[in-house]
Amino acid sequence: MQTAQDHQPLLAVEDLTIRFLQYGRGLRRRELAPLQHVTLGADRGQMTAVVGASGSGKSLLAHAVMGILPYNAQVLGRMYFDGGPLDAQRIEALRGREIALIPQGVSWLDPLMNVGRQLQNGDRSPQRKALCTKALQRYGLSEETQKLYPFQLSGGMARRVLMASAVVEAPRLIIADEPTPGLPAVTARRVLSHLRQLSQEGAAVLLITHDLELAAQTADRIAVMYEGTIVEQVEAEAFQTGEGLSHPYSQALFDAMPGHDGFLKLKGR
Ligand SMILES: Nc1ncnc2c1ncn2[C@@H]1O[C@H](COP(=O)(O)OP(=O)(O)OP(=O)(O)O)[C@@H](O)[C@H]1O
Ligand SMILES: [Mg+2]
Repeated sequence: MQTAQDHQPLLAVEDLTIRFLQYGRGLRRRELAPLQHVTLGADRGQMTAVVGASGSGKSLLAHAVMGILPYNAQVLGRMYFDGGPLDAQRIEALRGREIALIPQGVSWLDPLMNVGRQLQNGDRSPQRKALCTKALQRYGLSEETQKLYPFQLSGGMARRVLMASAVVEAPRLIIADEPTPGLPAVTARRVLSHLRQLSQEGAAVLLITHDLELAAQTADRIAVMYEGTIVEQVEAEAFQTGEGLSHPYSQALFDAMPGHDGFLKLKGR
């Protein structure tokens, strides 16, 4: 039997707008609104992809949920986690535990700390150490990796360390911000299948990417972001068939996917 909880997204973002005030020369004030009226949900056991061009506001959305926007950002709108309002205080308590971010750049690793200490996050108990070893193992990283410093890791290893550090505490919401660029196709697919597995284990996964093809293959739902707003939210299948896409930008994205142009021409004939 389904309960009301089944229908309630784990994360709900409603009408989120982010503004920045910038001061130019002569105290001239300029207001930017790189995110406008974004409404988005992430369900338990589902992978929701947010797809959009560079600069469309994907990372800002992730950072707003994580509560790590720069100090000069003004945030309007509402966010809920597990039915309750997600305010600054609650984000602080949930971050790194129930809500985890796999950040966009590997530069988020602390260059002065070895992998083991980054994953322990200040907790040196044997229980924590065991969890860290397990998380590393999950991504094919040996116990020895814990002794390495970020500069000793290859790009692919660093990404796996970021993934491992996000899942040490078995979070309920995982936000992966562009986890695949720069990775060989095989590794990229592996990273996505790991994320997929986390969602199958019950987590809500928010996958941020500009790789629509990969998103269409792995995600359940796709939200298309264009210039700071979400212009379309569809089942991932829509990007395999092209049916049910209503916004010109998502149609253009669909047409640009490998093989689709030819497919459309074939249909036209
Ligand atoms: N601190 C800031 N002050 C002013 N503008 C900002 C700030 N941070 C981001 N922006 C602007 O917000 C917009 C969205 O940025 P964001 O990093 O979210 O894009 P993105 O979709 O993640 O891009 P990418 O795919 O390149 O990672 C950009 O135009 C960016 O210049
Ligand atoms: Mg980004």
